[in-house]
Amino acid sequence: MPGIRGPSEYSQEPPRHPSLKVNAKEPFNAEPPRSALVSSYVTPVDLFYKRNHGPIPIVDHLQSYSVTLTGLIQNPTKLFIKDIRSLPKYNVTATLQCAGNRRTAMSKVRNVRGVGWDVSAIGNAVWGGAKLADVLELVGIPKLTASTYLGGRHVEFVSVDRCKEENGGPYKASIPLSQATNPEADVLLAYEMNGETLSRDHGFPLRVVVPGVIGARSVKWLDSINVIAEESQGFFMQKDYKMFPPSVNWDNINWSSRRPQMDFPVQSAICSVEDVQMVKPGKVSIKGYAVSGGGRGIERVDISLDGGKNWVEASRTQKPGKHYISEHNSSEKWAWVLFEATIDVSQTTEVIAKAVDSAANVQPENVESVWNLRGVLNTSWHRVLLRLGHSNL
Ligand code: MTE
Repeated sequence: MPGIRGPSEYSQEPPRHPSLKVNAKEPFNAEPPRSALVSSYVTPVDLFYKRNHGPIPIVDHLQSYSVTLTGLIQNPTKLFIKDIRSLPKYNVTATLQCAGNRRTAMSKVRNVRGVGWDVSAIGNAVWGGAKLADVLELVGIPKLTASTYLGGRHVEFVSVDRCKEENGGPYKASIPLSQATNPEADVLLAYEMNGETLSRDHGFPLRVVVPGVIGARSVKWLDSINVIAEESQGFFMQKDYKMFPPSVNWDNINWSSRRPQMDFPVQSAICSVEDVQMVKPGKVSIKGYAVSGGGRGIERVDISLDGGKNWVEASRTQKPGKHYISEHNSSEKWAWVLFEATIDVSQTTEVIAKAVDSAANVQPENVESVWNLRGVLNTSWHRVLLRLGHSNL
């Protein structure tokens, strides 16, 4: 397509921050050290996790780049970046989380397939761009529409990158039209991240951001938007990123028996200390993130030092120095909450964090109960072992 192209090899990848932990080189997948996540509410772009299924597309000429809007609509059209930029601009602070975040811990129970993420396949950014609901209005679809006159009920996003899972075709995903046309859902066509032009790794020149939903639906390097009758039939909607019960294995799996995962469940992780870390006896600061999908707030983060018999509540913030109140108009509903508790350590101790969201959903106690063959959605209680010894903590 004019202005942008998707290479089929990796000779023109962008530079990456040296402290990223590389989980795969081709395609490039990497996450920051966990301590980087709690040093700021907004994750710096270069330390934001990168999850790519193919080589990074190259923009040759921004002015010729356009997005095609087509499918079950009456007036298919093409929008250039200047058209998108001329719509009202919104800045939405939203946490993006890969469904495979914390997969490594799941693979310790039983083998799973997928990139080995620790706890940092997640980041919080301020995304700047146009609302998808405004863009769809340009092609005659009013706000809060569940179905078009021609029977469109889903909005598919198609990229320009080439993925081996799609046999060299582009990455694709879709969301329901009702979500796409709901201004309150804050689905963006983003051209900025943290006030800067989107970087190549994160979707330059234009990506979708679907707040509160697993990262797989936030398609980068957008090529076309199709209004379609059924969910996208792309690999990543139909043969991946679905939640199966622990009994399903690669011999008995029936992909069509489950729906594509959309909202992510309530999640938390301790980031200020590693598992396993040596500490001196005395006070240790336990910091981490908690987040829930669907715009649900974080009602509580509990910390236990005795395997879950007793719990103390951690403090929660979004804006530094300001107490966070779940579901309050001062809080950012799509963004994570950073938590902190100071504990006293006098012996080797397992520290556990668990979050509760505003719908009273609680993280499950054991990873075994949510184990699945693709290693997605590990939201079990997060456990970190602190051993007494010499440390500079
Ligand atoms: N979009 C395209 N075109 N290609 C991809 O490989 N990866 C998806 C999503 N969008 C992907 C994509 C996945 S699985 C995730 S978790 C997020 O992008 C990661 O976004 P990030 O790399 O900006 O953190």
